[in-house]
Amino acid sequence: MAIKLVTTVAELRKESARLLAEKGGSSQGLVPTMGALHSGHASLARTAVAENDVVVATIFVNPLQFGDAVDLDRYPRTLEADMALLDAEGVDLVFAPDVDEVYPGGQPLVRVTSGPLGEKWEGASRPGHFDGALTVVAKLLHYGLPGGPAADGTTAAYRAYFGQKDAQQLALVKRMVADLNFPVEIVPVPIVRSEDGLALSSRNRFLSDQEREAALVLSRALRLIESRANAHQPLDLDSAVALVDSQPLVELDYFDVVDPTTLEPLAENCKETPFRGEGLAIIAAKVGPVRLIDNIPLDS
Ligand code: PAF
Repeated sequence: MAIKLVTTVAELRKESARLLAEKGGSSQGLVPTMGALHSGHASLARTAVAENDVVVATIFVNPLQFGDAVDLDRYPRTLEADMALLDAEGVDLVFAPDVDEVYPGGQPLVRVTSGPLGEKWEGASRPGHFDGALTVVAKLLHYGLPGGPAADGTTAAYRAYFGQKDAQQLALVKRMVADLNFPVEIVPVPIVRSEDGLALSSRNRFLSDQEREAALVLSRALRLIESRANAHQPLDLDSAVALVDSQPLVELDYFDVVDPTTLEPLAENCKETPFRGEGLAIIAAKVGPVRLIDNIPLDS
């Protein structure tokens, strides 16, 4: 394996500086993850490798963003397989710290507050989740800064890669970086789906065969909305909701069409009159014991 594993921030900085100098590089990409990697993460890594001279992936299961200790405990830890996947994509360095390295004094007293954007949709059913996620993302973005200058002495470019699957997290990270002036470019990477349409997620492994089949209704309902948007028809959300409700194993939490930046629902008239413009159809549902989210961008 060419990829290298480091567990401390000091080693990360040293290795980043070494790699930039060795490769004569002028850019560094960061791929923050919680491990349990699948093809969706591979796509993040591949995009980062294509666009940067040095690529660092982080693997850290962040206790701050879990409401429930059981969920935290049962979160899959698959470091060896994760390293192999990242190595195959050409990632240079993996930073996999333990909890004490990231939170040396215990849980931080001062945290990033996600504000109203973090309280709706996913935030409504997972109170505190986005504050915890943004707090660790802020730290990871700092850790992942290029450890040295570009080969020509200028500041190395710095980009961080986030999946569009977690649309609310992506919107919040972009907003935090803009509002708090983080020196990093946030690069969104499209959702990866299995052939039958299911959006890849580390939670899919908890679905039974029957639940997995039932879960397909989420992407089917989103596709229905997308096809209406592309045809400039009214989105008729109610009939798409009815499609989801017809599946007994699926308990719908929310399904709406929102502004991609503010995540505010689009005006009712976009749903009832021919759709034009940009939007994001978002859905969340429990399928058996597993909560799934999915979304599809609309642009017509
Ligand atoms: O999307 C994730 O995997 C996590 O929320 C992140 C961004 C790595 C922060 O823990």
